Amino acid sequence: MNQQQWNSVDAYFTDLLAPADEALTAALRDSDAAGLPHINVAPNQGKLLHLLAQLQGARRILEIGTLGGYSTIWLARALPADGRLITLEFRPEHADVARGNLARAGLDKTVEVRVGPALDSLTALGAEHTAHPEPFDLVFIDADKANNRHYVEWALELTRPGSLIVLDNVVRGGAVTDATSTDPNVVGTRAALELMAEHPRLSATAVQTVGTKGYDGFALARVLA
Ligand code: SAH
Ligand code: DHB
Ligand code: MG
Repeated sequence: MNQQQWNSVDAYFTDLLAPADEALTAALRDSDAAGLPHINVAPNQGKLLHLLAQLQGARRILEIGTLGGYSTIWLARALPADGRLITLEFRPEHADVARGNLARAGLDKTVEVRVGPALDSLTALGAEHTAHPEPFDLVFIDADKANNRHYVEWALELTRPGSLIVLDNVVRGGAVTDATSTDPNVVGTRAALELMAEHPRLSATAVQTVGTKGYDGFALARVLA
């Protein structure tokens, strides 16, 4: 099994089950034209996020790490007409591309892109949640991996029993098993997974994936009562 084979199978699955439309195609085209890195989820992974949001009956979604808004489009399309998605992005130039892509997709009224370090935006969201609780039904964590544990901690604050937390890119090329690693991405991801394992209000698993994004994986955690 090799990357070429994974690409062929992903192309088959994607063409059949997660075909692109004009808004998704244009989102990737404009992201590329703006020089954004090609680190968006694959189409079939985007469709998985979409299905998970629908299974949650999600009315409110939080995304940490917007990039050009490609995963955002898949998630926001799972929301009802009065649903809301808040997505957090550090880089203003990424947020600008995402806003254009989301407007083209007809999602500018549904999605709010908040610019700044996600930990700052999460502190503000925490204050808003205290004043007026409106828990998120799904949180997709896909930003700087060093802060993954903090993002899971915030997700616990901002969700309800039954909410779902999805953590992307947990394999780190296999280095996730290395307890001696000093790579901040590995350390942060291991800390997040350990929190998912230990926390009495979380029930979690993690799976490895292959495909057009190479070898990777994600973790899923359900918030308990
Ligand atoms: N979810 C996107 C990909 C996100 S890539 C998709 O699948 O389409 C990760 C993004 O997180 C990048 O745009 C990066 O600028 C952003 N990011 C990195 N550090 C961040 C931080 N501290 N706060 C918020 N966003 C951050
Ligand atoms: C990277 C980040 C991602 O969120 C991803 O899905 C793939 C790669 C990266 O920073 O390299
Ligand atoms: Mg990712």
